Amino acid sequence: MNLVLLGPPGAGKGTQAVRIASEFGLKHLSSGDILREERKNQTELGRQAQDYMDRGVLVPDDLIIAMMIDHISRPEAAGGFLLDGFPRTVVQAEGLDERMAEKGIRLDAVINMEVSDEEVTKRLTGRLYCPKCGRTYHAMFSPPKKSGVCDDDGEAVTRRKDDQPEVVKQRLETYHAQTQPLVDYYSRTGLLKAVEGGGSVDEVTSAIKEVCQSL
Ligand code: AP5
Ligand code: MG
Repeated sequence: MNLVLLGPPGAGKGTQAVRIASEFGLKHLSSGDILREERKNQTELGRQAQDYMDRGVLVPDDLIIAMMIDHISRPEAAGGFLLDGFPRTVVQAEGLDERMAEKGIRLDAVINMEVSDEEVTKRLTGRLYCPKCGRTYHAMFSPPKKSGVCDDDGEAVTRRKDDQPEVVKQRLETYHAQTQPLVDYYSRTGLLKAVEGGGSVDEVTSAIKEVCQSL
């Protein structure tokens, strides 16, 4: 099964992707996490991406398409994958369609997590994450058991630089202008499945699981 999780910044794509990928044995491929890893390792791609990411605008399509196709083509993704944060523009979606067709594989569904701007802003401005393992928390909705440190490895949790209120505002504008058109794009192909993303983490997981089981 090959899936895309679509939704605004802070919709809970990463939170849900970890659960769904583990339940269905899929490789979780988050474009944002891959980019942050490239930055941490100070690769050429990481250096090219950092300014765009810190401003809350999109990294150029050609860089992202090449990066994601590389990951999709790896043996770990051969049993099925779950894309999180990619595609994010119509050009990226077309690039993905083309390259998947060449490989003789296809998408089974695009799950659109519907969450209001107000709710995602609350989620992002309270988000905490572990820089070591990438686990995500929320200061109010899902805090670590011991304040300030990751449950899994005891590392100090931190805030993402692009979760400052002004950058969140820009990321939402970028989403509405460049990513929301994908809702129409995938509706036309019949792949789009809408899921209410405003409920609790468990409620949203159940709704996504139901979609996956119906495929
Ligand atoms: P990326 O890392 O993909 O950021 P994003 O899309 O803005 O999404 P987030 O990771 O912020 O949110 P999420 O939906 O994963 O939510 P999460 O589960 O963490 O991209 C970062 C940057 O990289 C972009 O701005 C761009 O520059 C670049 N980039 C990436 N992909 C690109 C592409 N394809 N093309 C071009 N550029 C690209 O949850 C958020 C918070 O809410 C957490 O605190 C969580 O605990 C909490 N939460 C989650 N679910 C719930 C719930 N149900 N109830 C209450 N709280 C919840
Ligand atoms: Mg994410």
